[in-house]
Amino acid sequence: MLNYLRDHVGKPGTKEGCASGDCGACTVVVGELQTDDAGREHIRYRSLNSCLTFVSSLHGKQLISVEDLKHKGELHSVQKAMVECHGSQCGFCTPGL
Ligand code: FES
Repeated sequence: MLNYLRDHVGKPGTKEGCASGDCGACTVVVGELQTDDAGREHIRYRSLNSCLTFVSSLHGKQLISVEDLKHKGELHSVQKAMVECHGSQCGFCTPGL
């Protein structure tokens, strides 16, 4: 999934660090429709290491990368807080955070 995002979809914000599932620099969010015991549908979100995930596993799911967090040109409130509070060090893993 990481190579797909960076090389085919034009979303280079997700970074490759270790490429082995250890560092989290490549973290993305995947949403999947689920049905609870009462028959109500809801979307369950979870984080994944995109370096370990095959694109084919995304079928029917929502993929959210760091580029998708911006809304109408504005950073997400968590992104703003990270900038204003100097919440990263070298910044390489920041998109995953
Ligand atoms: S690149 Fe390090 S966990 Fe994916």
